Amino acid sequence: MARKIFVTTALPYANGPFHIGHIMEYIQADIWVRFQRMHGNELHFIGADDAHGAPIMLKAEAEGITPHELVARIAAERPKYLQGFQIAFDNWHTTDSPENVELSQDIYRRLKLAGLIYSKPIEQFYDPVKGMFLADRYVKGECPNCHAHGQFADACEECSIVNAPTDLINPYSTLTGAVPVLRTSDHFFFKLSDPKCVEFLRQWLNEPGRLQPQVTNKAKEWLDGAGDKALGDWDISRDAPYFGIPIPGAPGKYFYVWLDAPIGYLASLKNYFDSGKAEANGESRSFREFLAAPDSEQIHFIGKDIIYFHTLFWPALLKFAGSPYKIPDHVYVHGFITVSGEKMSKSRGTGISPLRYLEIGMNPEWLRYYLAAKLNGNVEDLDFNPDDFIARVNSDLVGKYVNIASRAAHFITKHFNGALR
Ligand code: 2FM
Ligand code: ZN
Repeated sequence: MARKIFVTTALPYANGPFHIGHIMEYIQADIWVRFQRMHGNELHFIGADDAHGAPIMLKAEAEGITPHELVARIAAERPKYLQGFQIAFDNWHTTDSPENVELSQDIYRRLKLAGLIYSKPIEQFYDPVKGMFLADRYVKGECPNCHAHGQFADACEECSIVNAPTDLINPYSTLTGAVPVLRTSDHFFFKLSDPKCVEFLRQWLNEPGRLQPQVTNKAKEWLDGAGDKALGDWDISRDAPYFGIPIPGAPGKYFYVWLDAPIGYLASLKNYFDSGKAEANGESRSFREFLAAPDSEQIHFIGKDIIYFHTLFWPALLKFAGSPYKIPDHVYVHGFITVSGEKMSKSRGTGISPLRYLEIGMNPEWLRYYLAAKLNGNVEDLDFNPDDFIARVNSDLVGKYVNIASRAAHFITKHFNGALR
C-alpha cells in the first residue's frame, strides 16, 4: 500500500533571503521526497514563510513599509532560489494568512477547553519611548559579574555568565536607548508541565523509530529536568504592538510567533488542498479528511536548533487539540552547515551565497550531490569545503558517473550501431 505523506521543512523567517543552511535542508527533504515517490508513495511537500514576530515588525518599520509589504517582497524572491536548486515544493504559503488565523485560533480554543491554557501576570522590561515590551535581545547593560559594558543578559561576551535582564547594571533599550521600566502584563501559558502532557510526550518520544536516538535523548533530558531545569510552561502571548495573530477574547494580545509558526505547516497544507493542488497531485480527500485519516503521515525536517519546539510543544499542542489534528510521525533533524570548518557569519563574510552560486553558472546538481553525499542520519554538522567540493564533483560525478556513461556510449556505438532497442 502506498504511503501518504505530508512533508515539511522549517519555515524560514520572512525578513531575509535564504542562506545556504536553508537550501541544504530543502535539498535534503527534496531528495527524500523524490526517493519516496520513486517507491510509489504519495507525497505532499509543503513550505511557507514564517512571517510574524517583533524582528519583522521592527525591520519593516525601519524601512518605512508595512510588515505585509516586507513579507511580500521577501516572498517574491523565493522561487528564484527554489527553482534554481530544483527544489520542488508542492505548495509555498505564509503564516500571515487567513488559513493560519483560522487554525491557530481553533487550536488555541481547543487547548483552552482541554484545560491547558491559563494566564498569569508577568513583569517585564518596557521601553517607555517606543511604547512596547522588550524581549531580552532588545536590552543591554553592564554585566554585574565582570562589569563589561554593552552586554545582553543571556550570555555575557566577556565572562559568559547568564544574567536576567533585570540584573544588568544601567540597562538600556537597544531600540531607543531609553532606560527601560518594569511593567506587569497578563500573559497566556500553555501547560506543558501538566502530567497528561508529560505522560503523552514520554510515550511519543519512546516510540521506536520515531526520532533519531540523539534527538530522543535530548528531548528526554528536557522532559525529565529537575530543579531550575524542570520543564516549564510555555508563554504563548505577546502584547501589542506585535505583528501576529490576535488571541480570541483577549484584546491587545497576540500569539507569540513560535505558536503560530508550526501551525503554518498546516495552514500551507490547507491552502494546498483548498486550492485544488492536492487533487491535481492525486489526493482526492479534503484537508480535514486527509489530516484525520489514520493512513496519512506527517513528517518534519528541521535543524538541531529547534528540536525543543518540534519534539515537546508541537506534538503536545496537536495531541490535545484533538482530531483532525494529528501528532507528527517523525521529526528528522540535521546539524548546521559550516564553511571550511567555520560557522557561517554574515558580518565576517563567510558562508556561501546560494544566489551567487547560481549566478556564476555553477550547476545546482553539483551542490545537491555534494550535500547528499555528506549528509547522514546523525545530527552532525556538515562542512562545505571548497577544495573537497571540487574534488568530489570531479572524482565522483565526472570521474565515475560521466565516465560510466561515456564508456557505455562507446560500447553501444561499437557493438549496437549506436542504438538500444
Ligand atoms: O528558526 C526559524 O528559522 C523559525 N522560523 C523556524 C520555524 S519552523 C516552524 F515551526 F514553522
Ligand atoms: Zn560579564
